[in-house]
Amino acid sequence: MNILIIGGAGYIGSHVTREFLDQGDQVTVYDNLSSGLRENLFPEATFIHGDILDYPRLIRTAQGGFDALIHLAAYKAAGESMIHPEKYSLNNINGTIHILNAAAETGIPSIVFSSSAAVYGEPVYLPVDESHPTKPENYYGFTKLEIERFLGWYEKLKGIRFACLRYFNAAGYDVRGRITGLEQNPANLIPVIMEAASGRRAEVWVFGNDYATPDGTGVRDYIHVTDLARGHAAALRYISDTNRSLTVNLGSETGLSVLDIIQAARRISGKPIPARIVGRRPGDPAKLTASAQYARETLGWTAQYSDLDTLIRTSWEVYRKHG
Ligand code: WQD
Repeated sequence: MNILIIGGAGYIGSHVTREFLDQGDQVTVYDNLSSGLRENLFPEATFIHGDILDYPRLIRTAQGGFDALIHLAAYKAAGESMIHPEKYSLNNINGTIHILNAAAETGIPSIVFSSSAAVYGEPVYLPVDESHPTKPENYYGFTKLEIERFLGWYEKLKGIRFACLRYFNAAGYDVRGRITGLEQNPANLIPVIMEAASGRRAEVWVFGNDYATPDGTGVRDYIHVTDLARGHAAALRYISDTNRSLTVNLGSETGLSVLDIIQAARRISGKPIPARIVGRRPGDPAKLTASAQYARETLGWTAQYSDLDTLIRTSWEVYRKHG
């Protein structure tokens, strides 16, 4: 297939690009490199340096006769979205409208969208399945949910099939070491821990240890980026095979606490990784884990690389080289 990957130079986008290249697809990456990295680009993929807000450039690119478009070009820092909602409105919402209109105008029949568990907000039951209420707690999650709704309308009115993939906590790196770009100024737990392990950061702040969890720290469902990438390929096969759209969780179904992660990182890296308990971060739920039953049933997808040691080992292999 001929695939356009918007945001394909990013941390997740580069793993998705690698997956489609590995399965023999033709790939064009469109990325503004605002957070994506040139070092994450592959020579086998065509690269167009462009912004989703540059509609003339986007529409010219979309006229490449693509069978599908993968949309991973959104800002994703939940905390930042509550301070600067305008940049999330512009990039995530306006930018997506450009993508949808470019797909409609150029006849791209399928879109796979990088959605997020953030659309669910505070869990009312666990594990969270796709029928769980969607009440996002932050503006980032709101933008993701709104984009899901736009996709529903563009299917109804323009016949564009879609897959909304609700990622839980993305982590890890390519098991074959082919992707080595570091996220810039990460806020997520595992890259923060890796920065402390490699001396790029003095210590890890643990946001609260008084939650109703076994060790008092937050529990999340960490999913390896290669498992996420495999989920994109499976979703595209599903759309091609059934001509139907779907919205599905991609998670490991395993809950790990902050201290579980820190202890594994100390063991695998052999580094002290100083950690300090501080106050809770507003908006953080105690626990958030996925049901991936629907992905198993519809996509035949299950996480293969999302065990704790693989998540930490593949991350450390990259960070130790940059230390
Ligand atoms: C994980 C756990 C923190 C950093 C966010 C977005 C979500 C999705 C994934 C894109 C929590 C604790 C964290 C630190 C800590 N993004 N923590 N110290 O908040 O579960 O989800 O990223 O789709 O939309 O909301 O991920 O990695 O920030 O936090 O103690 O320095 O680690 O409290 O329990 P989160 P996270």
